[in-house]
Amino acid sequence: MGILIKNGTLVTALDTWTGDLRCVAGSIQALGTDLEAAADDTVIDASGQYVFPGGLDPHVHMELPFMGTISADDFETGTAAGVAGGTTSIIDFVIPGRGDSLLDALAAWHAKADKSVADYAFHMAVTWWGDETAEWMRRCVQEEGIPSFKTFMAYRGAIGVDDPELIEIMRCARELDGLVTVHAEHGDMVVDLQNKLMAEGHSAPKYHARSRPAPLEGEATARAIMLARMTREPLYVVHVTCVQALNAIAEARGRGQAVYGETCPQYLLLDDSVYDQPDFAGAAYVMSPPIRPKGHQEPLWAALRSGLLQVVATDHCPFNQAGQKEMGKDDFRLIPNGAAGIQHRLALLYTYGVLEGRLDLNQFVDLTSTRAAKLFGLYPRKGSLTVGADADIVVWDPAASGTISASTHHHRCDRNIFEGFATKGAPSTVVAGGRIQFQDGDLRVERGAGRYLKRTTT
Ligand code: URP
Ligand code: ZN
Ligand code: ZN
Repeated sequence: MGILIKNGTLVTALDTWTGDLRCVAGSIQALGTDLEAAADDTVIDASGQYVFPGGLDPHVHMELPFMGTISADDFETGTAAGVAGGTTSIIDFVIPGRGDSLLDALAAWHAKADKSVADYAFHMAVTWWGDETAEWMRRCVQEEGIPSFKTFMAYRGAIGVDDPELIEIMRCARELDGLVTVHAEHGDMVVDLQNKLMAEGHSAPKYHARSRPAPLEGEATARAIMLARMTREPLYVVHVTCVQALNAIAEARGRGQAVYGETCPQYLLLDDSVYDQPDFAGAAYVMSPPIRPKGHQEPLWAALRSGLLQVVATDHCPFNQAGQKEMGKDDFRLIPNGAAGIQHRLALLYTYGVLEGRLDLNQFVDLTSTRAAKLFGLYPRKGSLTVGADADIVVWDPAASGTISASTHHHRCDRNIFEGFATKGAPSTVVAGGRIQFQDGDLRVERGAGRYLKRTTT
């Protein structure tokens, strides 16, 4: 029993054509025109609609223990929200505590993730350097299907690493053909500014942003790039938010260094006036790096268009206002950092990127699926419409429209940072793992149907 999608406009990172696509037993089995349906096929008429490879979000945090609480979506609810928006696979971050075994943390993440409704993979965060770290990293790459490592230059005193540790991690990753990813902010300076602001009596959410200004991201990005250059390690910079970081990446890429970058819809579409909302509402936007002042957003769009940045992820890490963000009512340093986003990544990028003429459709597919699949060792199984690829398909109705709201979203979170944003275009059907998991607004996911994706070095 297969699924035959007829007469759609098929769009990949490279090509656009009109035709049919048939999936059987979880894989794409045929592409062409006038494909015949088998008697028991489900046939979907995609006339007037686009057919994309399923979205891949390579930066999410489901059920993450962080800042004294746990991110509000678990692997089931978070991947379900993703499916509702056209994202059919994710890469989450295993984050061991300082001093903890990477492999013990991996076992804990596997236990949490096996309820995923959609396919998932892991990056491994290396949060400290010790005698066994190199061997754990080797096992991640060579045995566990985890060829990418996350490092935090922020969050000093918790999961952040210092420069000597970062150098060891890069050297080791280089030997393993792994890819280092980095959260780039000057961690020590952030702590200093946080403490200074609090000592001056500035405890409101907007001071979170004041304690993490863009130059601190620019400096850390340039420093990480320099360490990667000296260790000859490729580098992927997560959640790039500002012109200073873009300049550092542009300089490196201009020299031919293997540096890649990702941004997220919140950094493209919001500015720091969100922190001025009354009654602690600004806490919903407390994330790191913070939302930037006006002036940074258009350069980020330009970086996507020009290829300076290659990926749009979400950094999905939701915390409820009630009971979680409230922990920092009297001290912005205690507001858990993060927000929800996985459901609306495609709709926001399509509406404000493609329809506003900032991106073309092939770039849209590349940014939301294909490039991450290539960089992180999942291509062509993910991110492509080719025979043999996984049957992860989005039929996208360009005539659909909506308004984002926490009252209707699938995130398990009481706020949506895009509340009231209009969207045009939406998935009409989402096939994930060969099954129709979303159709015409009806989410039909199955707990535990997602598979762990072992990745390869690229
Ligand atoms: O504020 C954020 N971004 N929370 C999630 C953890 C991280 O830094 O990516
Ligand atoms: Zn981060
Ligand atoms: Zn993150």
